[in-house]
Amino acid sequence: MAKISVFGIGYVGVVSAACLARDGHDVIAVDVDTGKVDSINSGLTPIVEEGIGELVAETVASGTLRATTDFEAAVLETDASFVCVGTPSADDGSVGLVYVTSVCEHIGAALAKKDDFHSVVIRSTIVPGSTEDACIPVLEKASGKTAGKEFGMGYYPEFLRESTAIADYYDPGLIVFGYLDEGTKKILAGLNADLPCKTQMVDIRTAEMVKYTSNTWRAVKVTFANEIGNIAKDNGIDGQTVMEILCSDDKAAMSPYFMRPGFAFGGSCLPKDVRALRQLAQSKGTPHHMLDAVLTANEAQIAKAEQMVLDRGTEKVGFVGISFKPGTDDLRESPLVALAARLVDKGIDVSIYDPFVQEAYDTETPGAGRGNDHLPDLESRLVSDLDDLIENSGTVLVGNFYHDAVERIKQAAQRRPVVDLTRVNREMVTNDSYHGICW
Ligand SMILES: NC(=O)c1ccc[n+]([C@@H]2O[C@H](COP(=O)([O-])OP(=O)(O)OC[C@H]3O[C@@H](n4cnc5c(N)ncnc54)[C@H](O)[C@@H]3O)[C@@H](O)[C@H]2O)c1
Repeated sequence: MAKISVFGIGYVGVVSAACLARDGHDVIAVDVDTGKVDSINSGLTPIVEEGIGELVAETVASGTLRATTDFEAAVLETDASFVCVGTPSADDGSVGLVYVTSVCEHIGAALAKKDDFHSVVIRSTIVPGSTEDACIPVLEKASGKTAGKEFGMGYYPEFLRESTAIADYYDPGLIVFGYLDEGTKKILAGLNADLPCKTQMVDIRTAEMVKYTSNTWRAVKVTFANEIGNIAKDNGIDGQTVMEILCSDDKAAMSPYFMRPGFAFGGSCLPKDVRALRQLAQSKGTPHHMLDAVLTANEAQIAKAEQMVLDRGTEKVGFVGISFKPGTDDLRESPLVALAARLVDKGIDVSIYDPFVQEAYDTETPGAGRGNDHLPDLESRLVSDLDDLIENSGTVLVGNFYHDAVERIKQAAQRRPVVDLTRVNREMVTNDSYHGICW
């Protein structure tokens, strides 16, 4: 069983401290607010939350949970400190780190007096880079020790929802933590070992980003549902019924397929249907901020890809893929066609390898080239051999993922610029010659 000090007895701190104590760990809760400290030590909860009153009473009575205002003693008597203080917005909307760095300073001062290895784990929500750029320098300065070597460092975000916080603690949707050292990894992995959820162990910045991504995704979903509800209502439809039915579809609505960062959406349905719904909203006078933003952002992703290609400064560009997704010859509203047309307009010589579009032309499939509204000479730009396309291109633009193209694109990236909009290989990240649109 571990000995853990929890700094900040707010919603996150109390729930973490009490649940850890119930699991048998020895927990010291720390706060500057003497009222909260006294409350815990009297076996009373300082927050209102389902089940927390009983949990605090039980764990304080059994001796596994106590509270103090003595920061130094809390650090000296435990193996790890969890920082759960608030991070309210600063005036300009940026994350407020004053409480976190203040606690780090106290913990660092205590670490200076401690011989045993101690891990510092930030649980407050802080933007990517904060642990490395703000917390670690403060801890190192105050302790005179090096993070990851002489003391442990981790970032372990909390995803609980107030009102179901204890249930969420024992049945989380997601557990992720970032760590600098094996000692911290071992403690955090051990604490989560029995929970019914895979523990994702990553670098600290990734864990910080996952937390913001999770909350922003929740916010996007609420706004999306509200906008759908407003449009539905103005058309005499119950938007809650619509959204309940949508959410029952695990294959498309909730699918990870649509959650991979990469290139713009396109095809015969999504752009047309988002536009039409926006038009319907407009016709009824229903505000449609989110639909506007979706279309604007999609257009911006095409412009971003265009700039990435132009920045390579080559006269010839070879497209790997031109249809709106691999496995089809459908060119309707393919963002790759739009991108190719924009480059042609800028005087770039564009060649295209696309086995599915090629097959449609070769077999004289009725409707070959269907939906191509932007590139009238598309057929004459097709190159049937991928190696020829690569050899004769200044820059290779990867638009669609084809399994048999992966190795050749990896090799091509060693000889010439490659702009990748789909990510042919998870190992590849932007370097001098390879440029991933979101990685
Ligand atoms: N509330 C939630 O549902 C929730 C869920 C997940 C993550 N978070 C994140 O967790 C963090 C804490 O949130 P919260 O809602 O528990 O905050 P809170 O405001 O309820 O509690 C923060 C506590 O920290 C204490 N504190 C402030 N400065 C201190 C210091 N220098 N030393 C010791 N204690 C100090 C305060 O007295 C208070 O008790 C925030 O970053 C928040 O974004 C919150």
